[in-house]
Amino acid sequence: MTQHKATVLSHPNIAFVKYWGARNLDLAIPAFPSISMTLSRCYTRTTVEWRKTVGEHEILLQEAGVLETAPEAFRGRIAGHLDRLRDWAGIEGHFKVGTENNFPAAAGLASSASGFSALAFGVVRALDRTVDVATLSRLARLSGSGSAARSVLGGYVEWPVGDDATTLYDDETCVARELAPHDHWDLRDVIALVAADAKKVSSVDGHRRTDTSPYWRTREERIEPRLELVRRAILERDIETFGEVLEAEAIDLHCLAMTSQPAIFYWQPATLSVLARVRALRDEGVPAYSTMDAGANVHVICEAEHEDRVVTALEAVPGVTDVLRDAIGPGPREVDDHLF
Ligand code: PMV
Repeated sequence: MTQHKATVLSHPNIAFVKYWGARNLDLAIPAFPSISMTLSRCYTRTTVEWRKTVGEHEILLQEAGVLETAPEAFRGRIAGHLDRLRDWAGIEGHFKVGTENNFPAAAGLASSASGFSALAFGVVRALDRTVDVATLSRLARLSGSGSAARSVLGGYVEWPVGDDATTLYDDETCVARELAPHDHWDLRDVIALVAADAKKVSSVDGHRRTDTSPYWRTREERIEPRLELVRRAILERDIETFGEVLEAEAIDLHCLAMTSQPAIFYWQPATLSVLARVRALRDEGVPAYSTMDAGANVHVICEAEHEDRVVTALEAVPGVTDVLRDAIGPGPREVDDHLF
């Protein structure tokens, strides 16, 4: 063992075909496959140090440049995953972890995807181990944030449900794989922030409730054709086909949430204003398409040449508090600037 401390950057991803609902919530095995792209400007930076002595994990959160003990609920979720990673590695001791996001957390911007993929990758590097991407994807997924399984890869990513060898879906094969590299198609994600506060219902609760929606039954029929359309549209860089499915998927996700028992409303009034503005942009000849994760903020996907026009349009929508520019990127990496 030569190395005990490592720092990594990992990015959120935005799903085009959504993961909503699970076959096995404990293992975060999704009900259906999903397709996403990994972003490059929003990131989680995480430093992990392994200490061989017995002790409690130390978990720090950096906000506004100050590194402090993280809030209790946050510590609990991270510590639970550190225990799992320690079991996987077959080691003793404990970890010190420092982490920061350069974007609002828990607001439907997939901070859990970047956060848990960074944690899994950071632990692996702090232990000076090298693992294949499938193993890393599985380790990220076992955090309980399924979408973290996709953030271990850059570019366009598909996350299948895994093989059905025994009627129980297989934990080992439920891992993300690359559909196309990041330089295949330079898509941008212009994010209209309408609510930077933490969302009230977690994704885990959303997944748990989703089969109480009367529309859940139709999900199965829609998903395969949509996966096929999106795979093909990405490979052919066909923004119109891609965009139509993108919007339909986001509406389905939120319909399922709103019709679950009890109902979940992630949208704010300004969410609808942004959706209307994006439709108007298309009438003006700008091929831009919206999607949303489990939150009120809207991700507007377009090709690079239209990014500035989309940003200007979204900044003018009443209720939009900020507009972030992001883009497809190459995925997580190790860096030198440690948080402690
Ligand atoms: O990864 P989780 O468990 O936080 O669920 C995220 C689900 C969505 O972001 C809403 C959709 C997706 O596929 O990323």
